[in-house]
Amino acid sequence: MKSGAPEINKIHHGDCLDLMRRLPAGSVDLVFADPPYNLQLHRDLFRPDRSRVKAVNDGWDKFESFCSYDDFTRAWLLECHRVLKDTGSIWAIGTYHNIFRVGALLQDAGFWILNDIIWIKTNPMPNFMGTRFANAHETLIWASKAKDAKYTFHYRSMKVFNDGLQMRSDWLIPVCKGPERIKEGGGKAHPTQKPEELLYRIIIATTNPGDLVLDPFAGTGTTAAVAKGLGRNFIGFEKELSYVNLAIERLDAVKPMQNSLLEIRNEKRLPRIPFGALVASGMVLAGECLWSSDRKFMAEVQADASLVCSGMTGSIHSLGTLVSGKERTNGWNFWYVERDGNLLSVDKLRDDYRKKHQRNSRADGL
Ligand SMILES: C[S@@+](CC[C@H](N)C(=O)[O-])C[C@H]1O[C@@H](n2cnc3c(N)ncnc32)[C@H](O)[C@@H]1O
Repeated sequence: MKSGAPEINKIHHGDCLDLMRRLPAGSVDLVFADPPYNLQLHRDLFRPDRSRVKAVNDGWDKFESFCSYDDFTRAWLLECHRVLKDTGSIWAIGTYHNIFRVGALLQDAGFWILNDIIWIKTNPMPNFMGTRFANAHETLIWASKAKDAKYTFHYRSMKVFNDGLQMRSDWLIPVCKGPERIKEGGGKAHPTQKPEELLYRIIIATTNPGDLVLDPFAGTGTTAAVAKGLGRNFIGFEKELSYVNLAIERLDAVKPMQNSLLEIRNEKRLPRIPFGALVASGMVLAGECLWSSDRKFMAEVQADASLVCSGMTGSIHSLGTLVSGKERTNGWNFWYVERDGNLLSVDKLRDDYRKKHQRNSRADGL
């Protein structure tokens, strides 16, 4: 960070525009922005039992007009665009009150929308007046810095996270409650504290350990707390001192996970190696025999890497399927070569080929 820039791994008190202007261009990997909603609540809201709803009617959420809200939104979005790395991305969350304005201005600022995620609240607040549908979701926009940007997305991690099913754009997560909800004087300390579960998904999916996550509207420090726990760096800006103090206290209690738990292993796709590469490299010789593990079946390797067995011919997979009588056989796990009197699977030979090949490309500086 340049000198005079706000320090990382801290929550800073002040206006996010002033503070962002002091960050170097291209220094941030992820922005999570939960800006004022501009709810325009002009009167108190009561439950049927006449208790007052802790709604968002604070000074920080008040703007004179849509136009002044747009000017403010445009300014912070342009700063986010400047401080983001080319590989970075931004998440902006909001409700129907503001998200459509934020979305349009986000595109105007040069961002490229990748998804909108609907956060479905499993325990939403009812519509007490019975005048509209219960407002049970918020919208998150996820966008890269430009149309063709190479942004971080751990697709496979998200699939594993979701029990092997591709993760969809509708997320069912309860609103922040219970011990996670910071209380003051018996009530909520902040009207819009977001659930950590929401930030957990976002940070795991779209950052790497050690990345820098910026939250220009830090509130109680939810983004920073989850980022710290997941071994990411963070920087948060918040203009209300009381929230800054809550966030600092909250962050002090967070211990980062050990690095070994954070490694992203799912995303690594092994390079595809055809059986022919083993034959061409001499690791398996044309004319030698492949065996099934119980030595019941034997096939001869041809120069073109096909196998021949009892008048049948095919690839390691199709011949494996034919002789085993199974619906589908993975030839890499079915066939073995004989080395020093022992059977060695062709899959093991493929591993050796990959290792050798990787070492060579490193040595060649490829
Ligand atoms: C919707 S809340 C964010 C809540 C936060 N995500 C959390 O989980 O606690 C928006 C926050 O932005 C702060 N804020 C509003 N305008 C700001 C500005 N110009 N600079 C910095 N913070 C601002 C408000 O004080 C408020 O805490």
